[in-house]
Amino acid sequence: MVRDSAKSSSAASERAAGGMHRRLLVTGGAGFIGANFVHYWLRNHPDDRVTVLDALTYAGNRASLAPAEGHPNFRFVHGDIRDQNTVERLLKEDAIDTIAHFAAETHVDRSILGPDAFIETNVTGTHSLLKAARKIWLEAPRGKSAEHRFHHVSTDEVYGTLAPHEPAFRETRSYAPNSPYAASKAASDHLVRAYHHTYGLQVTTSNCSNNYGPYQFPEKLIPLMLINALQGKPLPVYGDGQQIRDWLYVEDHCRGIELVLARGVVGQTYNIGGQCEKTNLKVVQILCAVLDQLAPDSAFVPHAQLISFVTDRPGHDRRYAIDAGKARKELGYAPVETFDTGLRKTLAWYLNMSDWWEPLMDERYKAWMEQWYGVRKHGAAL
Ligand code: NAD
Ligand code: DAU
Repeated sequence: MVRDSAKSSSAASERAAGGMHRRLLVTGGAGFIGANFVHYWLRNHPDDRVTVLDALTYAGNRASLAPAEGHPNFRFVHGDIRDQNTVERLLKEDAIDTIAHFAAETHVDRSILGPDAFIETNVTGTHSLLKAARKIWLEAPRGKSAEHRFHHVSTDEVYGTLAPHEPAFRETRSYAPNSPYAASKAASDHLVRAYHHTYGLQVTTSNCSNNYGPYQFPEKLIPLMLINALQGKPLPVYGDGQQIRDWLYVEDHCRGIELVLARGVVGQTYNIGGQCEKTNLKVVQILCAVLDQLAPDSAFVPHAQLISFVTDRPGHDRRYAIDAGKARKELGYAPVETFDTGLRKTLAWYLNMSDWWEPLMDERYKAWMEQWYGVRKHGAAL
């Protein structure tokens, strides 16, 4: 069943002359990056229309969209990207010319315990969206000449893992996904590419490194460590903690997607990253040190005393790093935040916004924590 928050004001006629104002469909807009993208977009393009389509899985949260709810150009639709009829209806009703496709199952650990949902949403769901876009944008009376863009938001995990001294991933790197999550995203990337090559759908894809910032569900490293630390719980670092990720503040990712939409060449892929490689252990140590400063009255200062090494993630990729040179040269992309400024903003946001994250600590969350962490042994650098 599909529910709308607002009646659509229909019609392509609303589109400003010359196509100056975009009409976006943001899939997965109630998730972490999707919600940040909606806020970023409405702030910087207040005359554009934004329709969010989100299934509100455990990771989707309507509260993350609260700042957009009163905006006259915002509409929320509760629905599934696998429902092709709904997507076709929305593309027509709201005269959508741009899809920013974020919706996905995204947590690597969950893909290890239950890969099926990842194939369903990330592969079948993306294909369903492509079929709808092809039908409405390429086959309907608008004809092939009508302007449109299908932007696919993907990940650096499709490239697999890097050895310590290997150069960072460029767009030409072969795909070698190692987790069911990464494999499902790789499959979706290939489908997007094929719909461009075969049918002429106007697509772009971005492959981004690890994001952090407001509204991230507390199953991912940074919010999970922060909330555990605030509650005096162990901080579970996998294996030896020497795995490396390349961290990017979420708004810098949104800025990168904005540039791809504005200046990206149809059919191309762009890597987006922060040139900010850190081991997981270092990230957790920095987080603890900043939290000591921001919450000096906490009973658990120094928070680093809570760090506990636990059994590693199976198939754990050792290192990711993005070479964003193409986006920098061709689009003028550059991140604004450093890890220090971005992390401080993030921690301050979570400290102020317990009303957002406390309700997430429900039975379903506790069951996940027990199922995944309950079986992991604690010890020195396991
Ligand atoms: P998230 O898990 O926080 O949010 C995913 C959203 O998609 C949720 O709101 C969920 O309800 C929605 N959704 C899931 N299945 C759906 C379906 N079948 N139909 C409609 N909506 C559905 O994810 P995120 O971290 O915001 O990631 C967004 C996108 O960015 C994903 O495609 C992910 O692969 C990609 N990405 C994420 C990161 C990162 O660090 N988080 C980095 C690079 C790329
Ligand atoms: O690289 C981009 C990807 O980043 C995105 O495509 C994914 O959707 C996103 O979830 C993220 O994947 P990671 O697996 O890198 O993120 P996660 O936050 O789960 O873990 C980051 C690192 O921290 C990883 O090496 C595993 C480790 N880790 C994670 C958790 C949750 C721990 O050591 N302990 C933990 O409890």
